[in-house]
Amino acid sequence: MNKSLFALAVLATLSAPAFAHQAATPFYGGQTAASGDLHVEFAIRDGGLRVWVRDHAEKPVAATGKVTLLLGGAKSEITLRADGDRLVGEAPVKTADKVVAVLALSAGGKAVSARFAQEALVQPALNAGASVGQGLFAANCASCHGPSLRGTDQGPPLLHAWYAPGGGHDDTQVLKVIGNGTQGHMWKFGDMPKPEGVKAGQEKDILAYIRAMQAANGIGAAPSAAMPAMPMDGHAGHGGHTGH
Ligand code: HEC
Repeated sequence: MNKSLFALAVLATLSAPAFAHQAATPFYGGQTAASGDLHVEFAIRDGGLRVWVRDHAEKPVAATGKVTLLLGGAKSEITLRADGDRLVGEAPVKTADKVVAVLALSAGGKAVSARFAQEALVQPALNAGASVGQGLFAANCASCHGPSLRGTDQGPPLLHAWYAPGGGHDDTQVLKVIGNGTQGHMWKFGDMPKPEGVKAGQEKDILAYIRAMQAANGIGAAPSAAMPAMPMDGHAGHGGHTGH
């Protein structure tokens, strides 16, 4: 047996129990928290909130509830309504905002509460390449990855530890995806189609923009970024990312 593979397998076994009661893998780019054997995934979109409740087997669990939102010094209460396998709520919130959200849900006959926080988006100064990339991103990528790179209902956040530089999605991989798209493998959004509006040679400017945004927003800044220590954003259950 390949030695490094063996080491990985042992590591996975040892670390599994430590994660069991922290967080599940997010399906839709949100933050996750566990309550008993239920997992809550929470995502902020421009103009609304999304909540998914799943059991230990990742099966959706019907839920009702509300979210208390702390936003710009004001507190508001958003009632969630069922929408397929998720709960949604309209709120005057942006993916770029600093937000604290406290969820009070009833799921599977139990009261479930969870607290999530998001920092305000930092817009860094951009060099020439990255600012060209910013325009290309707005035109070709933001519809799915969001104007703040924090995701939408169509695609995942790129300001996410899974995409930190030096991780499984290094520069080569990101350039390849910008050129070709990718099959869905990390989330439940489905495939990313080939970005037809991007011309050969423009990929590196888009990459420069993504890396500048990540650096300014603490993605990949700490050595532990690939496996964040924050329990609300764990990496549990994701079986590595060597399949590219
Ligand atoms: C139509 C929606 C859509 C558009 C437009 C789009 N993406 Fe994606 N992208 C996705 C989805 C969905 C995934 C997640 C696939 C998965 O499950 O891993 C993704 C994944 C990625 C990833 C991670 C790739 C990996 O190897 O896991 C990167 C980087 C990325 N997109 C960058 C971009 C950039 C840059 C653009 C613009 C040039 C762009 N995307 C345009 C939907 C989109």
